[in-house]
Amino acid sequence: MPERSRVAVLISGRGSNMAALIYASRADDCPYEVALVTGDNPNAPGLVLAEAEGVPVARLQAPAAKDKARFFANLHELLEKEDIDLITLAGFMRIIPDDFLANWEGRMVNIHPSLLPKHKGLKTHQACLAAGETVSGATVHLVTPDLDSGEILGQVQVAVLPNDTPEALADRVLIAEHQLYPQVLSRFLSRTRNFEWITAKVGELALDLPSTFFQTSHGSPGWKVGTQSNSKFFGIMWNRHHGEEAVGVLVKCSGQEEMAELIENQPGIYFRPAYYGPSDWVGITLDRPRVDWSHIADRLAQSWELVAPRRLLEAGGR
Ligand code: GRF
Repeated sequence: MPERSRVAVLISGRGSNMAALIYASRADDCPYEVALVTGDNPNAPGLVLAEAEGVPVARLQAPAAKDKARFFANLHELLEKEDIDLITLAGFMRIIPDDFLANWEGRMVNIHPSLLPKHKGLKTHQACLAAGETVSGATVHLVTPDLDSGEILGQVQVAVLPNDTPEALADRVLIAEHQLYPQVLSRFLSRTRNFEWITAKVGELALDLPSTFFQTSHGSPGWKVGTQSNSKFFGIMWNRHHGEEAVGVLVKCSGQEEMAELIENQPGIYFRPAYYGPSDWVGITLDRPRVDWSHIADRLAQSWELVAPRRLLEAGGR
């Protein structure tokens, strides 16, 4: 079983979704562990439950309006210290500031009790009934600067009953939320370990560079720079080849010295691929919880520069 992602749950109150995430994480094949529960309310009932379940809890004081920036700076520091890979919001009643979000882009998810994009914000169930909907539900989505608007990762429908009240509807939607959240989170985390998903992601970055195209190399997906008749590989996928556990990408580095340095300083990220290592290809592991994709883009660009034909480099390259 590969390393589990370390998830933090942020709550403000009851924490029933948090509980659902914790209990689901007990399954042997769950790709995450709840490594921390915290939030903006030191008296949140959910914190007591998390503690009783042996999950690490941090009680932070609710910030006064003027201290909001400091609160989020401290929170970020805490999450870094605890080596958190992904944040899940579960009834966390604060608007997340953009600078905090920027550090967690693509690594923060939320659950909202409606079928987004319908009925964003508060008083969701009331709005749903007032609109005369016959179906409501819940949505798990990525958190972006626009409230309740990030990429939808999963949804579940819940029927609206005749004479429903907002409270009765909320209770039923909550049952559905508890099923949905752990399921979608697990799927989301598993896809980041999946060879096809990783290949598509690397492909997007590789093909963003000038004069590049896709071609397989000994059966592995790869990307070349140049023309069909005169071209060189600058990125090749690696799928647990030759006894090496990692799924990753091979890129050219400047030489054996750089390769040794990269592997020595970041052994969890870089590896020396069999057969390719002697010709200055270094492997970057990508099926790990926290991949900095802008770093991968940089490494691909460096590799591109090392092999690109002179005419492209002279034309200003990338
Ligand atoms: C849930 O309905 C969730 O969708 C919304 O806030 C509520 C939190 O409930 N974001 P709980 O604290 O998880 O019980």
